[in-house]
Amino acid sequence: MLFAILTLFPEALEAYTHTSILGIAREKDLAQIRLVDFRDFTRDRHRTVDDRPYGGGPGMVLKPEPIVDCVEWLEREHGPFRKVLLTPGGATFGQRKAEELAECERVLLLCGRYEGFDERIRAELDWEELSIGDFVLSGGELPALTIAEAVVRLLPGVLGNELSAESDSFANGGLEYPQYTRPQVFRGHEVPSILLSGDHARIAAWRAEEARKRTSERRPDLTADGGGTTIPARHARDR
Ligand SMILES: C[S@@+](CC[C@H](N)C(=O)[O-])C[C@H]1O[C@@H](n2cnc3c(N)ncnc32)[C@H](O)[C@@H]1O
Repeated sequence: MLFAILTLFPEALEAYTHTSILGIAREKDLAQIRLVDFRDFTRDRHRTVDDRPYGGGPGMVLKPEPIVDCVEWLEREHGPFRKVLLTPGGATFGQRKAEELAECERVLLLCGRYEGFDERIRAELDWEELSIGDFVLSGGELPALTIAEAVVRLLPGVLGNELSAESDSFANGGLEYPQYTRPQVFRGHEVPSILLSGDHARIAAWRAEEARKRTSERRPDLTADGGGTTIPARHARDR
């Protein structure tokens, strides 16, 4: 899978995209991440990417030419991309969208800055507009990393334990069950005895019930019946 991230600050993304899951996916050649500075597609000697808004108002707006030229160049180089424009006004990104994007061969993420984009960038290319929540950041770089990581960890072979994404929160609609590790007793709080029983079927049933309770208490909106993450019995064995 190829991600192209269009940004004015590739250096801000460089370290993170070489670290942890994104770095592992790159090393295993399961994902490529191409950071592209669309300032390189300007044609004036000041390398101008933004200008004042027509009609007045605060701030600067990203000009259409460098961005459209950059996207067209990438598509000539690699073929068509699923093109995502990052904006607070987009549809809210979530796990279902991550699963959908994980099926794509090529995804392009466009990071805005300043007051956002000249509207003709929207008109000229076929975009899907995504937001990572109802708040405003200063740029699309953190949203791009958020989306890239949520997608890449779903690619087969990326996570160490193939099953771990299966029981994560949202994978089956609800939240994950409570997790414990050593020590067995911490400041008087004991690990639930069922987790020490070795009975994998009962452990799986307990986890499913805990996930269901947790979802209905904390996120009743997630499913009509209160939700619940079901865990395959073989997963219980791996924990
Ligand atoms: C300061 S914001 C521009 C906000 C714009 N004036 C508005 O009101 O919608 C600059 C850029 O940050 C990115 N951005 C900010 N918040 C975001 C969010 N919640 N989700 C996705 N992208 C976001 C977008 O790429 C946006 O173009």
